Amino acid sequence: MDGKGRSKSILEEVTEKTKALKAETGMQPGLAVVIVGSDPASQVYVGSKAKRAEECGFKSVKHELPAETSEADLLKIVDDLNKDDTIHGILVQLPLPKQIDDGKVIQAIDPDKDVDGFHLVNVGRIATGAADEAFVPCTPAGCMVMIRDMLGEDLSGLNAVIVGRSNIVGKPMAQLLLAANATVTIAHSRTKNLAAVCANADILVAAVGRPEMVTGDYVKEGAVVVDVGINRVDAPEKGMKEDGSPKTRLVGDVAYDEAAKKAKAITPVPGGVGPMTIGMLMANTLRSAYRAAG
Ligand code: GUN
Repeated sequence: MDGKGRSKSILEEVTEKTKALKAETGMQPGLAVVIVGSDPASQVYVGSKAKRAEECGFKSVKHELPAETSEADLLKIVDDLNKDDTIHGILVQLPLPKQIDDGKVIQAIDPDKDVDGFHLVNVGRIATGAADEAFVPCTPAGCMVMIRDMLGEDLSGLNAVIVGRSNIVGKPMAQLLLAANATVTIAHSRTKNLAAVCANADILVAAVGRPEMVTGDYVKEGAVVVDVGINRVDAPEKGMKEDGSPKTRLVGDVAYDEAAKKAKAITPVPGGVGPMTIGMLMANTLRSAYRAAG
């Protein structure tokens, strides 16, 4: 499943609808991304979110704050963005430094600008089957688009197994699959006989953050496999860096070659779920702007 290509089509649609919104109402969707500290991976993610927003024709605002920023200062920025009528989506990149309570910051975001879908109001809407009114977290939303492309809207009769129980991916993924009538199992690092549980899955979503943990024997013949993992591993076969350490490569949570032999469809890493996440973020922000326009 080509997440890069699918995301491109979503971004093109968002760009068209952004033009239409501007033409009809004069409004421009606005996305604010906030990053605290200098974690290199987070900086790359935030940079590409801001860049894509511009490419879609959005107003794009990036707040880069030093690692020692206080919780009070961050809450003030969130409050200002909540009140700013030109901003329709607010994203605070996680994780935050130790002195800041992630939960407190997320709950401070206006639920109607929470394009990450992390606020308890949006979590509750999804959990009670009101996903239509919610912002759905971008990674699970992107996974659902690819699953539906393969299997259709209604997943009745299908077994879905999610490996991983995070608030960002595993739990919302389970809610979305359940709402689509799949029979859902959430497995995790403490699950007994994990390979056997996974081998029962018509839809297998791997979101554990362990490089290539899901090997071929975890995959049922004909399954749809969605790999959410992004893990950087040493790749000495690519040679050495200037500092003498080995070069690295990105791998997912799934051992791709083995799994691909059995799967009906599988997402690659990179180029699978990652680009879809950004596509859904832009779609959520556009939706927020349309809602604000009435
Ligand atoms: N950190 C890792 N994934 C995400 C995400 O989807 N949104 C935010 N805000 N932080 C993240």
